[in-house]
Amino acid sequence: MFITVCGQKGGVAKTCTSIHLASVWHTQGKKVCIVDADKNRSALAYSSRGNIPFPVFPVSSAAKGTRDAEIVITDGQASSDEEELKHLAYGSDLVIIPTTPKARSVELTVELASLLNSQKVKHAVLIVKVDSRKQKAAFQARAALLKFGLEVFDGFIPLLSAFDKAEASGNAVYEAVDDLGRSDPRRMTGWSAYCSIASQISCLISKPSSDTNSSNNQMPISA
Ligand SMILES: Nc1ncnc2c1ncn2[C@@H]1O[C@H](COP(=O)(O)OP(=O)(O)OP(=O)(O)O)[C@@H](O)[C@H]1O
Ligand SMILES: [Mg+2]
Repeated sequence: MFITVCGQKGGVAKTCTSIHLASVWHTQGKKVCIVDADKNRSALAYSSRGNIPFPVFPVSSAAKGTRDAEIVITDGQASSDEEELKHLAYGSDLVIIPTTPKARSVELTVELASLLNSQKVKHAVLIVKVDSRKQKAAFQARAALLKFGLEVFDGFIPLLSAFDKAEASGNAVYEAVDDLGRSDPRRMTGWSAYCSIASQISCLISKPSSDTNSSNNQMPISA
């Protein structure tokens, strides 16, 4: 299974999503790896900080490194270059587009989905960094994306400081601890959210393409 996580916007949790989906599948016993396709090598840096238990390869060694993997996740860099995005998405079973509920993030997601539609690449949107006090914005973003005919994962990835803590120590969020080594109280909320997305991905990939991504790009954005 080949999954690409990409988007036009920076800082929308592409690397965080790649690391956590890989972590979920690893805990389920799957042979998973990440290909870091970002010039900043964020996923490689993340994994080298702690004890991420699956391999992360730079693009230069992807062909060799991914040979035995059942699931290959490519962590893309933020880019508005159409050719670059097409190359990233090409051959993927599913492209995941993380987006925050903010209007600009939603607009760029709709643009990218249109490009992927023209390439006939299956894609789905993941709404991330949802502040529990501002859930309404997330529901509005979701409604806007659905109006465009985009496939949107059920549920949101919550905005949690546990993700920052996990990144700082190079672990998955369920291992997030503070400076004093105390477990973050909301770490399992973040972990459960990614577990749910991982199970939806398996269903989505087995769904016929005709049932997904019938995007209607004439609708106005209301988020
Ligand atoms: N759900 C979340 N809640 C809070 N912080 C988060 C969440 N997801 C990611 N972050 C934090 O947001 C920052 C950006 O995340 P990340 O690096 O995954 O984004 P990105 O889209 O890969 O960025 P880039 O475009 O630079 O590659 C990181 O510090 C990460 O720890
Ligand atoms: Mg990144």
